Amino acid sequence: MTVDLHDYVATVENFPEPGVNFRDISPLMGDGVAYKQAVDAIADFAKQLNVALIAGPESRGFIVGSPLAYTLGIGFVPARKGGKLPRKAVSASYTLEYGGVNELEIHEDAIKPGQRVLIVDDLLATGGTINATREIIEKLGGIVAGVAFIIELEDLHGREKIMEAGEVPFLALMEY
Ligand code: PRP
Ligand code: ADE
Repeated sequence: MTVDLHDYVATVENFPEPGVNFRDISPLMGDGVAYKQAVDAIADFAKQLNVALIAGPESRGFIVGSPLAYTLGIGFVPARKGGKLPRKAVSASYTLEYGGVNELEIHEDAIKPGQRVLIVDDLLATGGTINATREIIEKLGGIVAGVAFIIELEDLHGREKIMEAGEVPFLALMEY
């Protein structure tokens, strides 16, 4: 059975601040068929890219990245929000569609030079989160082999921002 994933996205106007249309994937995660379909579609993309690791930014990137890594039988690298990691880490800061400036960090031994990494997240908005994750991976000597999302918010031009940092294979399961 194949479902229309759009039916599992809840849109909330003016959240968390006026002018933002929040695209909530909670219904998709809460449905076993839709969640598996989304993860499997990203897994098909990942299989073409010969990746050694999946990386995902805190926190919704973990919801996509962990089952994906498990499905593929490879490791998952969390990019955590600033100040959470206990060991030496590399960081990058970025600006959000809402909520100001943030910082992400990855443990410095999480990625070995030359390893191919797929970055995943639930949603691409301005691209700040993904470009910060990418910056850290590249600082560690990793190769960003691709980027994948459940949702892309086209009006915010995140895809262009990613490609400005260097062309990479791109997948978005839904566009809004
Ligand atoms: C959301 C979303 C993406 C990011 C996209 O996360 O899950 O990670 O924003 O925005 P961008 O493309 O403009 O950077 P958020 O920072 O709200 O954190 P959360 O996952 O903890 O809710
Ligand atoms: N993260 C950044 N912008 C978002 C939006 N409009 N909906 C859900 N998550 C987001």
